[in-house]
Amino acid sequence: MITSQLLAYVAVSVLCVFRVSSRDTFIAAVYEHAVILPNATLIPVSHEAALALMNQNLDLLETAVTLAANQGADIIVTPEDGIYGWNFNRETIYPYLEDIPDPEVNWIPCINPRRFGYTPVQERLSCLAKDNSIYLVANIGDKKPCNASDSQCPPDGHYQYNTDVVFDSQGKLVARYHKHNLFMSENQFNVPKKPEVVTFDTVFGRFGIFTCFDILFYDPAVTLVKDFHVDTIVFPTAWMNVLPHLSAIQFHSAWAMGMGVNFLASNIHHPSNRMTGSGIYAPDSPQVFHYDMKTKQGNLLLSELDSYPHRPVVNWTSYASSIKGFSTGNQEFKGTAFFDEFTFLELTRVTGNYTVCQKKLCCHLSYKMSEKRTDEVYALGAFDGLHIVEGTYYLQICTLLKCKTADLNSCGGAVETASTWFEMFSLSGTFETQYVFPEVLLSENQLAPGQFQVSSDGRLFSVKPPSGPLLTVTLFGRVYEKDQTLNASSDLRAQTLGIMLLVIISIVCSLS
Ligand SMILES: *[C@@H]1O[C@H](CO)[C@@H](O)[C@H](O)[C@H]1NC(C)=O
Ligand SMILES: *[C@@H]1O[C@H](CO)[C@@H](O)[C@H](O)[C@H]1NC(C)=O
Ligand SMILES: *[C@@H]1O[C@H](CO)[C@@H](O)[C@H](O)[C@H]1NC(C)=O
Ligand SMILES: *[C@@H]1O[C@H](CO)[C@@H](O)[C@H](O)[C@H]1NC(C)=O
Ligand SMILES: *[C@@H]1O[C@H](CO)[C@@H](O)[C@H](O)[C@H]1NC(C)=O
Repeated sequence: MITSQLLAYVAVSVLCVFRVSSRDTFIAAVYEHAVILPNATLIPVSHEAALALMNQNLDLLETAVTLAANQGADIIVTPEDGIYGWNFNRETIYPYLEDIPDPEVNWIPCINPRRFGYTPVQERLSCLAKDNSIYLVANIGDKKPCNASDSQCPPDGHYQYNTDVVFDSQGKLVARYHKHNLFMSENQFNVPKKPEVVTFDTVFGRFGIFTCFDILFYDPAVTLVKDFHVDTIVFPTAWMNVLPHLSAIQFHSAWAMGMGVNFLASNIHHPSNRMTGSGIYAPDSPQVFHYDMKTKQGNLLLSELDSYPHRPVVNWTSYASSIKGFSTGNQEFKGTAFFDEFTFLELTRVTGNYTVCQKKLCCHLSYKMSEKRTDEVYALGAFDGLHIVEGTYYLQICTLLKCKTADLNSCGGAVETASTWFEMFSLSGTFETQYVFPEVLLSENQLAPGQFQVSSDGRLFSVKPPSGPLLTVTLFGRVYEKDQTLNASSDLRAQTLGIMLLVIISIVCSLS
């Protein structure tokens, strides 16, 4: 009797512990931070000067962390480069770096600050997390000594990594991630030898972490979702917006929906570099987002999220491959979107069904505009090919977009405003990949939360008329296994384009 009562009691308490230690929802915060930049210099500053600059940024981050915690946030994400900015080469970033240990050492820097040498930035971040009882995600630089026994060891005797760190609500270092896919100009950092897949478990779900340009590649981003089954991604970024398909809020929210995870994206706020756009995105809809090219201030966003979001199953080719293409008799034409040559069809009527194909990809669109304006042109486009400028990655894209001007030659060019309202749209494509990210962007870079869905057979469709004029409706597909198809002729093209780009950048720089 007594034994069985005891057993029952134990069972009940285990149940209670389980209930207490798992929560169905949590409050997420992301902070878009207007980073204070160091002066550009070719001579490294002293460690004291570097720390002084980092402390200025940490003062601003502290205000945001405190504010978020006071509003009940469980976790806050701050941006890539948010503590020291950019304008560095390998030597000039060195005074900003700290040796960041592997989290398995079980360390609370706030309590034991000198355990791994002089690490004032980690100490301050740890105390911020601990004093506010909040998970804190930040981006700093790691330095790791190496020597001749390692043939890849750089001549200066250490590796330097672009690094995300996470401190839990007790101030303990629980995650360290070295960015794998460095963007073109990040010469100050090394690429880790292998992609690191970093997760951390909380009572509000399993988290994965990666940084900025990583989002375009398979490892570690897709692996975290597919093989490690994370519920939420934390994503520090310093993202420069590129239209028509790669503005921050547009692409990051699309990745959340395409992969079926929560996504916490914290961007730098620096409008003169087109850096703005942060958000908290659930798989079924963006919860809150911020895009601001007008002011110079940072911005804190908060939202409640499901800890264990539902992951819908979509077959991205099912519908499109089951129907016959629509024929309109309209003339196809070519146009360039972010250096990729699309095949386009003009939407000449107020409503219609259109199909356009390029290589193996056919895109189907059904749409209805409120009115067909004479001063604006929309086109349906398809692209199936290797993108080779500012990164090499194979894309399959179906897109409905507003052309820059009423001239068809402008289709694919970046445009931020529109006046044409749509009553409905439905877009699908014969993708070779199951990694497709659905984007809907309205005039003036606004998202359309709750206004569209993806069906299980792969149609991106409006559930109500969009709340603003449309800039673009896009299915952005990534064919990761074809990234290596670069050949001699496209190599040459890449080089030529690269040089052209450099020339353009230098012209822009000397103008400003
Ligand atoms: C940058 O240089 C200016 C002018 O010399 C100086 O006033 C300012 O404090 C410097 N900023 C930093 C972050 O060192
Ligand atoms: C340098 O090499 C020695 C052996 O040659 C090794 O024991 C030591 O751990 C290495 N140091 C670092 C920082 O890798
Ligand atoms: C998706 O649907 C197509 C056409 O119905 C089918 O051939 C294909 O096997 C499906 N793909 C997956 C991954 O289920
Ligand atoms: C487009 O196709 C749908 C379904 O096939 C059809 O119901 C609709 O009438 C078509 N619309 C136009 C304008 O042709
Ligand atoms: C190589 O490039 C040419 C010209 O762009 C193209 O026709 C061909 O299909 C490419 N080959 C591969 C394997 O990508």
